[in-house]
Amino acid sequence: MVPELAARAHLERLPALVPAVLAEAGVSPPQVDRLAVTRGPGLIGCLLVGIGLAQGLAAAWDREVVGVNHLWGHVYAGRLGRPELEPPLLALVASGAHSDLVLMPEHGRFQVLGRTRDDAAGEAFDKAARMLELGYPGGPALDRAARRGEAGRQSLPVPSLPDLNYSFSGLKTALLYRIRDLGGVAKLSSNVRDDLCAAFEGSLVQSLVRQLDRALTRYPVRDVVVCGGVAANSLLRQRATAVVGGRARLTIPPLWLCTDNAAMIGAAAEYTTAGSLAVDPGLGW
Ligand code: KG4
Ligand code: ZN
Repeated sequence: MVPELAARAHLERLPALVPAVLAEAGVSPPQVDRLAVTRGPGLIGCLLVGIGLAQGLAAAWDREVVGVNHLWGHVYAGRLGRPELEPPLLALVASGAHSDLVLMPEHGRFQVLGRTRDDAAGEAFDKAARMLELGYPGGPALDRAARRGEAGRQSLPVPSLPDLNYSFSGLKTALLYRIRDLGGVAKLSSNVRDDLCAAFEGSLVQSLVRQLDRALTRYPVRDVVVCGGVAANSLLRQRATAVVGGRARLTIPPLWLCTDNAAMIGAAAEYTTAGSLAVDPGLGW
């Protein structure tokens, strides 16, 4: 992703989206109570374009504008399909930039239990897909290829740290060496490529759910949310369901609410105190 091009694309596309979205929702501007906009984490150029537009609309419509944490949005996406979802809850947020295990003791409060020490899960999926020449974004393409393959035929190591953190760079390197040992990506038959996808996905997902399992044992809460773009992964959805079992109620948002979307920012705004609109590309929890 080229940050400047992404920011320019936001500038070109966002204004036209506003009337289109209002029309689709059947809502007119006077019916809008508040505006919510992501203030971080993210690419600074894109964040600034969004905040500028929200401030402009807020001034024109005479409404308050709330700066929302993007990561909170992923967790609150769970409430859009399940309004009764309440803290205390445990969340695995796996996206292109994050792989965080968090405990949410109450609304608007998050305690990070573990995070990735190197690549995020989505980033690892995208890099693996690039090595296997599957295109971008690689996660969904790798997911589809993995469904055709068999993990056991090309098995790769399962990353494992003793605490609740993650590390995916070793798995990525193991895939790189395996491709090299097989004579390079151009030499791979489509069957072998599918098997490599299944092996990579299997190891990464096993690592994700193993730490989730540990966290749930340590913090036996009633609700678990698996969210973020990687929660769209079919194997993760299946394995998380198995690992949580009857121990807690598991919420995995529908696919369109897993990857980045505006609805989740609206949902998180309900529990965000109005105030800071300060853009923060590296905003934490
Ligand atoms: O949450 P998101 O939409 O954007 C960020 O906040 O980063 O997550 C995007 C990430 C990308 O890395 C993408 O490859 C990954 O989510 N992703 C998937 C799948 N769908 C999206 N990864 C694995 N399997 C999928 N089906
Ligand atoms: Zn995201």
